[in-house]
Amino acid sequence: MWDQVQETVQFIQSKFNTVPEYGIILGSGLGNFTEDIIIEYSIPYSEIPNFPVSTVVGHQGKLIFGKVGGKNVVAMQGRFHYYEGYSMQEVTFPVRVMKYLGIQKLIVSNASGGVNPDYEIGGIILIKDHINFTPEHPLRGKNDERFGPRFVNMSEPYSLKMIAKAKEIAAANAIKVQDGIYFGLQGPTFETLAEYNMVYRMGADCVGMSTVPEVIVARHMSLETFGLSVITDIGRDGFLETISHEEVLEAAKMAEPKVRLLIKNLIEGY
Ligand code: HPA
Repeated sequence: MWDQVQETVQFIQSKFNTVPEYGIILGSGLGNFTEDIIIEYSIPYSEIPNFPVSTVVGHQGKLIFGKVGGKNVVAMQGRFHYYEGYSMQEVTFPVRVMKYLGIQKLIVSNASGGVNPDYEIGGIILIKDHINFTPEHPLRGKNDERFGPRFVNMSEPYSLKMIAKAKEIAAANAIKVQDGIYFGLQGPTFETLAEYNMVYRMGADCVGMSTVPEVIVARHMSLETFGLSVITDIGRDGFLETISHEEVLEAAKMAEPKVRLLIKNLIEGY
C-alpha cells in the first residue's frame, strides 16, 4: 500500500507539482463546488495509476487541483463507496494519496438521512462525531507505522476548531447550521424505518453510506478533518416512500449554494 500510494503521488506530481493544503471530497449532488475552484489542473480517475474508478450516477470521477480563497486545494469530484464493491483500502486510497501530495486538512461532504426530529430536508449539519457501523475497518490488517499508529485516537475525529470557524461563518451569512453525529452504514439500501429508529436510539442524528472510512484513514495520518452533511430525506413515517437517489441529489442541490459558501469561506478564513 505504501509503495502504491507513493507511486500514485509521484505520477500526479510529474503532471502537476503544486502542494495542496486542503483536500476536499465532494459528496452526492455537491459536485458543483468545483465552480468555486480556480482550476489549474484536473485528471480523471481512470488516468491515475492505482485509483479505483467511480460508478455511481452523479459522481464524475476527477481529481481537481486549483485555488480556493488563495489556498491550494485538491478536490475529489466523486468518491468511492464500499457498496460499489471496493474494499475499504480502495475506498480510502485517495485520502492517502492526498495526504502525501501534501494536504494538512481534509474537508468531506455527504448527503444523509436525518433521524434527529429537529432536522429538515435541505438542512446543513456540521458533523461533530460518528458511529462506525460499516462492516469492514479500513485499518484492519498489518499496520504500516509510516502512515500512522496501530491504535488511533478518535477523541476528536472532526476538528472542533474548524467546526467553530464554520459556525462563525454560518452566523455571519445567516446560514442555518446544526451539528450532529453521523452514523455510517454500508448501504446500498436506504434504511428501513426500523433501522432509522435504531440509528436514532443509538445516539446518532443522521445516517449515510460514506465518510466514516475516509475520516478514519485521515485521522490515522493525523489530518485535521471537517465533515459536512446535507439532510436529503427524513427517516420517519410519511417520508420513507418518497426516497430515491434522484430525490437525494435534488435535496442536496437545494442546499448547495449555502454549502459552497461555507466551504469556500472556511478554506479562505481558517
Ligand atoms: N440513508 C443512507 N444514505 C443516505 C440517505 C439515507 O437516508 N440519504 C442520503 N444518503
